[in-house]
Amino acid sequence: MANILIVFASDYGSTRKMAEALAEGVQSAGGTALVKEAEAATLDDLVAADGIALGSPVHMGGMDWRVKKFIDSHCSAAWMKNLLVGKAGAVFASGSGFGNGGGGVELTMLGMLTNLAELGLVILPLSKHLGGYAKAGLQWGPYGRAHNEDLSPKGLDDSQLEAARAHGANLARLAETLKNNKVFA
Ligand SMILES: Cc1cc2nc3c(=O)[nH]c(=O)nc-3n(C[C@H](O)[C@H](O)[C@H](O)COP(=O)(O)O)c2cc1C
Repeated sequence: MANILIVFASDYGSTRKMAEALAEGVQSAGGTALVKEAEAATLDDLVAADGIALGSPVHMGGMDWRVKKFIDSHCSAAWMKNLLVGKAGAVFASGSGFGNGGGGVELTMLGMLTNLAELGLVILPLSKHLGGYAKAGLQWGPYGRAHNEDLSPKGLDDSQLEAARAHGANLARLAETLKNNKVFA
């Protein structure tokens, strides 16, 4: 059984909902999920996990400072000692954008993925065949858009969370597989 750590920041609840949907997906695949706010997650949480998901709201075109603080404070310590090499990694994000563009969601996700790659994690993409992809899919991970193009709020509905559940389930399966097979020499 894979232990999955899901670390997120959220001001208005959308990224939290996505984190919880990922956790449901993890559990549906037989894994256990520890969902933690970025400011509460620790190095010990990272070391105990077989797979790690980072989730952030898009803030000014990039990741939330609390997620970056977690990366700089705790992931860097793991990087120094190669503690997470060969585990599974995934990202997710929530945003709004003004107009019909992404408003920085790809940079947010790629920023987090860069850090996961530095740690030696095997990164999980979100494949377009998965349920929910049409509503909340991006190849880098699930994206929950919580506002309309004019920034009027709409929140996340269940169909948007489907991609997060699928990603969580796949992360649990990937983490379990990697746990039983050493990938890096
Ligand atoms: C300070 C701030 C900056 C934001 N900047 C962006 C942005 O650059 N691009 C974007 O798509 N959304 C932006 N948003 C909108 C949030 O990403 C969006 O509302 C998201 O759903 C919030 O997630 P949360 O409910 O988990 O806090 C911003 C929100 C705040 C509060």
